[in-house]
Amino acid sequence: MEIIAKQASADKHKASVLVLAVRDGKLTASGSAVDKAAAGQLSAVIKLGDLEGKAGSTVLLHKLAGVAAERVVLLSVGSSDKDYRDAARAAVRAATAAGGELALALLEAAPAGRDAAWAAEELAVAAFDASYKYDTTKSKKDDKPGIKKVSLLVAKGEEKAAEAGIAAGTALGEAINLGKDLGNLPPNFCTPTHLANTAKSIAKQFGMKVEVLEHADVEKLGMGSFISVAKGSTEPLKFIVLKHEGGAKGDKPVVLVGKGITFDSGGISLKPGEGMDEMKYDMMGAGSVIATMHGVGRAKLPLNVYAVVATCENMPAGNASKPGDVVTTMSGQTVEILNTDAEGRLILCDALTYTERFEPAAVVDVATLTGACVIALGHHVTGLYANKDALAQELQAAGEQAGDRAWQMPLFDEYQDSLKSNFADIANIGGRPGGSITAACFLSRFTKKYDWAHLDIAGTAWKSGPAKGATGRPVPLLTQFLRGRAAAAAAVAKPAAKAAPKAAAKAVAKPATPAAKPAAAKPAAAKPAAAKPAAAKPAAKPAAAKPAAKPAAKKK
Ligand code: BES
Ligand code: MN
Ligand code: ZN
Repeated sequence: MEIIAKQASADKHKASVLVLAVRDGKLTASGSAVDKAAAGQLSAVIKLGDLEGKAGSTVLLHKLAGVAAERVVLLSVGSSDKDYRDAARAAVRAATAAGGELALALLEAAPAGRDAAWAAEELAVAAFDASYKYDTTKSKKDDKPGIKKVSLLVAKGEEKAAEAGIAAGTALGEAINLGKDLGNLPPNFCTPTHLANTAKSIAKQFGMKVEVLEHADVEKLGMGSFISVAKGSTEPLKFIVLKHEGGAKGDKPVVLVGKGITFDSGGISLKPGEGMDEMKYDMMGAGSVIATMHGVGRAKLPLNVYAVVATCENMPAGNASKPGDVVTTMSGQTVEILNTDAEGRLILCDALTYTERFEPAAVVDVATLTGACVIALGHHVTGLYANKDALAQELQAAGEQAGDRAWQMPLFDEYQDSLKSNFADIANIGGRPGGSITAACFLSRFTKKYDWAHLDIAGTAWKSGPAKGATGRPVPLLTQFLRGRAAAAAAVAKPAAKAAPKAAAKAVAKPATPAAKPAAAKPAAAKPAAAKPAAAKPAAKPAAAKPAAKPAAKKK
C-alpha cells in the first residue's frame, strides 16, 4: 500500500473512493468544491439528514455527475482528537471493500489545535490498521483487492507537513501490524526462536546491534528464575537484546523490557482448558517491544533505545518447576514458586536485573502479567505502575495522546507484605486480592536501581470472541513515549545554541499537548552529567547477599 500527499482539486481527482469531511452539518472547502461540481447533490443529502453527526458515521454516494471519483463518502468527523481518529478508521474501513485508490480530503478537517502533519499521521495509521489481515497459516489467501493507494489531498504549502505525518504514521502503522502478526501467529510458529529471528532481521534492516543469549549464557549470568520457567519445555529459551543507538553517544538509553512467554499452559499449576489457546498471546509484551523497535528504526528516532526480551514457553513436564521449588534469581534474591502459573514475573525479574548494566535513563517493562489486571481495569486501559510518579505521568500522557490509554495503579508498601515466604526471600504470588498490584510489587524488588514503570497489558493486548486477534497495543503508547523522550533530548542537546530548540524538537515530536512533560519528568537523566555519582555505578551484583547463587555476572 502506498500513501502519498497530493495537491489536487477534489472534484477532478480520479479515485475509486473519495472521502469528504462533514462537521456540524457543514462541508469543508474540498467538499464544497465537489458539491458545486455535482450541482448541490452533497448539500442536498446533508439536508435530508441521512448523515448522522456521530464521528465515523458515513453516507456512500455513487457516480455523481461532474465528479471524477467513482464513489463519494461523506464522513462525520466530530470535534475531538478521538472523534477524528474514530472517523479516520471508519472512513478507511468503509472504503476498503471497494478497493483500488482511496482519496481522503480530510487534512482540512483536522480538529482544533492539530495540524496537517498530525492529521496525516492519523490517516496513515488508520490505513495500515484497515489493511491488516492475517493469512500466514491459511491455505487459501484472502484475494480481495484491498486498498492499493491512499492519496491525502493537501492544500498548497501543506505537502511537507503531510509527508512528515505520512512517514511517522507509516513507521507506527507498520510497527502495530508487526505486533499483531507476532501475536496472532500460532504458538508452534511464534516460538522464542522466531522472536529472536525477528529481532535479528530488524537489527539487519535498520542497522541495530543485536545479541541473542542461549540457555548456557543465561545460566552463566545466574538467571535461575528465568531458567526455572523455561526448563519444562523442549523449545529452547532465548534472551534477546536489541539496541537502537540513534541518540548522542553516551546518552543513557531508555530500555523496554518484554515478557515473551510464547505459550503459557500454567506449567504444573496447569490452567483450565477452556480458552487456553489465547495464552499464545502471552508473548505480547515481547511482541510489542520488538514491534516498537521496528518503528523506532524505520523512523530513525534520535534516541538511544534498547529492547530486552526474555522468551520461553511455560509447560508442564517431568523436569518442570514444581510448586514449592525455591530458585535463585540473577539479583541473588531467592524466590519460592508457590504457583508455576505466575511465571511472567519469574522471567522478568532476571531481565530487569540484567538491565541494570545499561544504567538506563528509564526502564519500561511490558507484560501480559495478570488476569487480575483484567478484572481491575477491563479491556480498555492498560495497568500502569511506576517507582517514579513523573515517569508514570509521562507514560499516561503518551497513552492519552496516542489513543492507547494506561491508568496508574498503586504500588503502596502495604501490598509488599503478601509476598512473604517462609522458605525464601520472597514468594512468587501474593494471593487473589490485588493480584495485579502484588505482581507489580514482585517486580519492584528488582528495579531499585533505576526509574522504572510496568505496563500490565493482560486486558488490552488482544481481543477474544469472534473478532479474536491481537490489537498491537501498547505499540502506540510506547512510540509516543519514545518520541517525547527524543524531543526532550533534542531540546536539552542544544541549550546554548542560538537555534530555537523547538525546531529540533519539532522534527520528531507530535505536537505534544503536555509538551513540558518529558523534560520536566526527567530531572537528572539528561545532560547535566556529573551528578549521580553512586547511583550510576554499573550496579555490581550484591554477590555476597546471594545464598547459593552462581558466580557474579560477567559484563558483556
Ligand atoms: N499470562 C497470565 C496472565 C493472564 C491471564 C493474562 C489471563 C491474560 C489473561 C499469567 O502468567 C498468569 O497466569 N497469571 C496468573 C497469576 C496467578 C497464578 C497469581 C493469573 O493471573 O491468574
Ligand atoms: Mn501464567
Ligand atoms: Zn503468563
